[in-house]
Amino acid sequence: MRAADLKAVMRIEQASFLAPWSEAQIAEEIGRPDRAWLLAEEDDGSVVGFGGVMVVGTEAHVMDLAVDPAYRRRGIGRALLWALADEADRLGASRMTLEVATGNAAAIDLYLSCGFDVAGRRTSYYPETGEDALVLWSRPIRPHLAAMRAAREGSDVVLAIESSCDETAAAVMRGGRELLSSVVASQVDFHARFGGVVPEIASRKHTEAIVGVVDEALERASIGLGDLHAVAVTQGPGLVGALVVGVAYAKGLAFVRDLPLVGVNHLEGHLYAARLHDPRLAPPFVALIVSGGHTMLVHVPEWGRHEVLGRTLDDAAGEAFDKVAKLLGLGYPGGPVISRLAAEGDPEAIPFPRAMLRSGDLDVSLSGLKTAVLQYVQRERAAGRELNLPNIAASFQAAVIDVQVAKTLAAVSERGVRSVVLAGGVAANAALREALAHALGERGVRLVVPPMPLCTDNAAMIAAVAHDEILRGRFLGLSAEASAVMHLRGADARI
Ligand code: KG4
Ligand code: ZN
Repeated sequence: MRAADLKAVMRIEQASFLAPWSEAQIAEEIGRPDRAWLLAEEDDGSVVGFGGVMVVGTEAHVMDLAVDPAYRRRGIGRALLWALADEADRLGASRMTLEVATGNAAAIDLYLSCGFDVAGRRTSYYPETGEDALVLWSRPIRPHLAAMRAAREGSDVVLAIESSCDETAAAVMRGGRELLSSVVASQVDFHARFGGVVPEIASRKHTEAIVGVVDEALERASIGLGDLHAVAVTQGPGLVGALVVGVAYAKGLAFVRDLPLVGVNHLEGHLYAARLHDPRLAPPFVALIVSGGHTMLVHVPEWGRHEVLGRTLDDAAGEAFDKVAKLLGLGYPGGPVISRLAAEGDPEAIPFPRAMLRSGDLDVSLSGLKTAVLQYVQRERAAGRELNLPNIAASFQAAVIDVQVAKTLAAVSERGVRSVVLAGGVAANAALREALAHALGERGVRLVVPPMPLCTDNAAMIAAVAHDEILRGRFLGLSAEASAVMHLRGADARI
């Protein structure tokens, strides 16, 4: 920033703060050796943002950071902050600190998503407004800058951890695409006798498994902790007691090794599994995510942005398979058994309902289907007839598939996309894959289905998302927490 830029800078400053700095104050700042003031410029050289940092010893105080209101939500503030961090690092600082008004939600969101933690609160800090300030501290700057640099070069080495449900998983990946190792310890045997995932057992088993799983992932990748650029972890959604094990482990590792910490949305992970399988996959596309915990149709206009088009109003698709298997006495998990039986049955034998097929939206409902199967079974038993399990399985499965395929086709024509991703554990269902591939093929739409180890829960997909999050400059602070409910980042979200 030079004196000639001050007019443009003051315009942004005044549009951004209730108590802006004066032109004289900023003029006095620029050019001082322990300061760095930077501009963000449009291609034509016009100023769209600026920021300033003051270095005292090993601390860099972010004094000001503002973006022209017409240019917000484009990542300019984040880019400026990391550029300031780079200057601060050069001037000898190892951490950044700043104050932000408690009412400035956008700024707080920016700093927290760059890995800052709240260190305290100064009451009535701003004399002009009486507003409180939050005091924020960054994590060590240099490892974050190094991770971003490596990610831009495609050489970042990331350890990712996944523990959202009943698999404890860890993976090591280089450059967001090259999988060096992927270890998955499934707990399914421990849950099977209860007919579903028991959250308390899941949590305890994650605790038992996580150290060994991470060690094995590092060992198989021939990677030491010193080779890592970042540690990534599934932050949500999922079972909170399960998530918290991975998050606590990742935070501990990030803390002791001064490693950047990246938080990943599990559902976004399922989308990235498709990209790992098919590197040519590019947005826009529609994804059908069907697992034990989720059933949703998502439009992805670009990586990192999502528009949820429809979801289940009650049971998830995998949950429906599991519940029907349970009521037929077939054990847990239900998907594999039912699809095996279905292969020998007649899908038209029993006319189970196709709920919401003509609802006019992209939502689905699966609990009525489960009830219909239950009532059918009770009727047959009452009449003393033997159950034809293959026919029940095939007819139930056909009802699920019909609705999923119809809704996916509707989403495809609504959005005009040329690619569809099928992801999540239920993508293991061969009949669903075939029906979808056939229906989409007739319309010239490409279907991408990751291979099974990438469809079910794993940490490779978490590492793949983490690479892009590092490129975006998005990190977690150490006070970040696991989150049972976590929405996919929206289509107009701040990235
Ligand atoms: O994605 P996933 O491994 O875990 C969750 O995040 O939920 O999905 C597990 C779910 C279970 O409900 C299981 O019954 C279902 O996927 N599943 C299947 C098949 N294989 C697994 N559902 C239908 N057909 C299958 N072949
Ligand atoms: Zn999953």
